[in-house]
Amino acid sequence: MDVKGRLYTRFLERTKAYAAQQSDAIIEKQHSKGKMTARERVDMLFDPGTFEEIDAFSMPGPAGGDFGKKVTAFGDGVITGYGRISGRLAFAYSQDFTVMGGSLGSVHASKIAKIQDMALKMGAPIIGLIDSGGARIQEGVASLAGYASIFNRNVTSSGVIPQISVIMGPAAGGAVYSPSITDFVFMTNKTSHMFVTGPNVVKEVLNEDVSFDDLGGAMVHMKKSGVAHFVYEDEENTIRGVQKLLSYLPSNNLENPPFFEYCDTDLRVDDRFREIIPDDPNKPYDIKEIINLIIDRNTFFEVATFFAQNLVIGFGRLRGKTIGIIANQPKVLAGTLDINSSVKGARFIRFCDSFNIPILTLEDVPGFLPGVDQEHNGIIRHGAKLLYAYADATVPKITVILRKSYGGAYCVMNSKNLGGDFNLAWPTAEIAVMGPEGAVSILYRKELLESDDPAKLKKELTARYRDEIANPYVADDKGYIDEVIDPAVTRKKLISAFEALENKHVSVPSRKHGNIPL
Ligand code: HXC
Repeated sequence: MDVKGRLYTRFLERTKAYAAQQSDAIIEKQHSKGKMTARERVDMLFDPGTFEEIDAFSMPGPAGGDFGKKVTAFGDGVITGYGRISGRLAFAYSQDFTVMGGSLGSVHASKIAKIQDMALKMGAPIIGLIDSGGARIQEGVASLAGYASIFNRNVTSSGVIPQISVIMGPAAGGAVYSPSITDFVFMTNKTSHMFVTGPNVVKEVLNEDVSFDDLGGAMVHMKKSGVAHFVYEDEENTIRGVQKLLSYLPSNNLENPPFFEYCDTDLRVDDRFREIIPDDPNKPYDIKEIINLIIDRNTFFEVATFFAQNLVIGFGRLRGKTIGIIANQPKVLAGTLDINSSVKGARFIRFCDSFNIPILTLEDVPGFLPGVDQEHNGIIRHGAKLLYAYADATVPKITVILRKSYGGAYCVMNSKNLGGDFNLAWPTAEIAVMGPEGAVSILYRKELLESDDPAKLKKELTARYRDEIANPYVADDKGYIDEVIDPAVTRKKLISAFEALENKHVSVPSRKHGNIPL
C-alpha cells in the first residue's frame, strides 16, 4: 500500500475506533441515570446534521505521577464543535461523564478554551453542556491551570457573546465557577447538582449529613442560592429551553436581537388594563397579568422564576422585538425590594445592556424591605447594585409607574433623574417620599397625640396626603413623569416610545470601567 493508502486506512481506523469508544454498555449506564450521552445532547441542541466536531482525537494529558487510574480515550472526555441553532451559528462543548467522570484535565481544558476563542472571534454564542466531577485529580495542577484558562476566557467574552451553561449531571469543584461567570445557568431537575464541595466533604469537615439534592440540587439553586436561572424536568426540555432563550438574544454585542414578524392586532385600546389593580391600594395582584397584556401574546420568557419572586424579570417581545422586563411583584413581600431581588434585577439589567436589549420597568414598590436581617446583610450595598446598573445602562429604558413608588425605591426603579428615557404613570400611581400612614405619623405626631379622636384625624390627614402629595400629578407637573396615561393604551404607548428610542445614542466618558458596588 502506498503512503496515501496507508494514511487513508489510518484515518478510517481512527474514525472506527472513535465510534467504538462508546459501547452499548457505557451508553446504557448513562441512560440508566436518566441522562443522555454527551453526543446525544449536542445532536439535540443543534439543527439536525449541522454539528461539526473538532479535536475529536485529542488524547488525555500526562498524569502528575503514577497516582490513580489512567484512562486513554479519544477526545479526552469532552466533545467540542459548532453548528446551527435555528439557523444561527453557535459553539458548544459537551462533557462526557463516561470518561473519568467528565473530569477536566489539561487537554480537555485546552479543547474548551479553543472553542471559547473561536466563539469570541466569530461573534457567536457558546453553550457548555456540563457533566463533570471537576478538576481531574490525577493531573494535579495542570487541571487547575486548565480551569483558570477557561475562567479567563469566560471573563473576556462576558458582554461580547452570550455564554450559557447547562448543568446535566454533577458540576463539582472547579466545574461550578465557569457557569457562575456565564450569563445563564440551566439545570435539569434531579439529575444535576452543583457544589464546590460535595456531601462527603461536608460530612468530613462539618459532620453534617446532607443529600446531593439538598446540598446542590436544581431546586436549591433555583429557589435559594439564585445560581440557576432555569430548571426543567428532563434533559430534552432543558435543551429546548436553551434554544428558546437564544431566540431572544443577538449573537453578539454588535448585533441587535432577532426580529420576529408579528401580526399586530393588539394595538387597540385594551380595557383589561384598567381592571387589574384593585381599588384597595393595599391589596395585591399578579404583575404577570399586566406583563402579558403589554407584550406580544405568549412571548414572556421568565428568568429565575423561583428566586426573589418579589421582582419578576424576563424577556418578551413588543411588536416582534426583544425587550427585557423588570417588574415589582405586589403578590410577594408586597413587591418590596430586598437583597436578593436587588441583585437579581441588577444582573439582568447588566445583561440586557450588554446585548442591546431595551429595558421596560413596571413599578409598584412600597420601598426597600425594612429589618435587622436586611440591614445587617448589606441591603445598602446590594440595593446600590440595582441603582448602579440602571444608571449605567445606555440601552433604551422606559418606566411605567402603576401604583406605589415610594422613597429610595422610586429613585432606584429607573426614575427620570436616574436616566429613564420615558417615564409614564397610571392615574393610580402614588409617588412620594413615603406612604400616607407613615408620612402622617411623622408630620402630625403632636396633633395626633393631642387629638380627642386620633383615628378620625389620621384618616382625614391620610386622605389629604393622597390628594395633595401621593399621586402622579405632582410629579407630572414638575416633569419627573413625562405623561400620565390611561392604562388601556399602555401597550400602544410603549410601542411608540420604544420605536422612538431605536436610534438612542449616549456618549459616556472614557474610563477603564466603573466600580460597581459588588
Ligand atoms: C478524576 C474522577 C473525578 C475527578 C470522578 N472521577 N471525579 N476522576 N478526577 N475529579 C471518576 C471516578 O473515579 C470514577 O471512575 C468515574 O469518574 C465516575 O465517578 P463515580 O464517583 O463512580 O460516579 P458517581 O457516583 O456518579 O459520583 C460522581 C461525583 C463523584 C459526585 C462527581 O465522582 C465525586 O464526588 N467526584 C469528586 C468531585 C470533587 O470533589 N471534585 C472537586 C475536584 S477539586 P471509575 O474509573 O471508577 O469509573 C476541583 C477544584 C478546582 O475541582 C478549583 C478551580 C477553581
